[in-house]
Amino acid sequence: MERVTIDNITLTLASPIELPLNWVGNDELLKQLLAAWMVIDERDIPFNPRLIGKPGVGKTTLGYAAAKRLGRQVYLFQATMDTRPEDLIVTPVVGPDGTIQYSASSLVSAMIKGGVLILDEGNRMSEKAWASLAPLLDDRRYVESIITGVRISAHPDFRIVVTMNEDSSTFEVPEYIHSRLQPQLYIDFPEAEEELTILKENLPFASASILRYVVDFLQRGHAADEPYSVRDGINIARYALKMMAASDQDPRDLLPLAVERILGEEALRYLR
Ligand SMILES: Nc1ncnc2c1ncn2[C@@H]1O[C@H](COP(=O)(O)OP(=O)(O)O)[C@@H](O)[C@H]1O
Ligand SMILES: [Mg+2]
Repeated sequence: MERVTIDNITLTLASPIELPLNWVGNDELLKQLLAAWMVIDERDIPFNPRLIGKPGVGKTTLGYAAAKRLGRQVYLFQATMDTRPEDLIVTPVVGPDGTIQYSASSLVSAMIKGGVLILDEGNRMSEKAWASLAPLLDDRRYVESIITGVRISAHPDFRIVVTMNEDSSTFEVPEYIHSRLQPQLYIDFPEAEEELTILKENLPFASASILRYVVDFLQRGHAADEPYSVRDGINIARYALKMMAASDQDPRDLLPLAVERILGEEALRYLR
């Protein structure tokens, strides 16, 4: 494990993540995200963009793919309702010899290493947790660790992207934070051809007819404003493929069965 010492406090750093994710389809969104992170002058600072959209439309994937495009290491922080300010910064842990050691969060690790942080599902976090990030998100670009008394400044290469689900079951992010999380990039459900490309990328071993069937289903769902996402589509096709491998039932019966088991009976009305 990597350690760094700041003002006599030794921090253990978190590791970057490595995911087999590739962004396909909407190249414009990728460009917009990369533009927001750009620094065009030595007096310029990067934006802290926010990716908004329904669950499963590709927010985390886009953040990851953009970071990889920059050639940076990617760190992920999964926000929850229970995220405390110190969880975002530095937490104390008891070491094997009984001494207190300090663990840097993935966010602080990314700040120190000059990586990219995906703050995932940021809408789940309380105002108190967000407040601890306020100085990081403006031109100060630092955080304060209350537990160690240390101020940690972001490496110039540090970038952050926040994903937010568009559902109501979460906290309202305070206005002063909203204004620091700009620009907002909205990810919508993809058009049919793009959706097919995405399914192919994720399930290269599935037949074209199965993927086409799933895309037809998803498109009817999108038109009716159902929350069925690419992720659901991937799961339907994947489950149907598994059932096909396990039985000699007609694939035409197994696809509806997969739809029903992934999304419930109501979803069957969107099958042709
Ligand atoms: N444009 C895309 N290119 C590649 N995969 C995608 C794309 N959009 C969505 N996916 C896939 O859909 C699934 C859900 O995406 P994810 O990023 O987890 O969604 P979200 O974070 O919005 O809930 C993942 O398996 C992801 O690989
Ligand atoms: Mg996500």
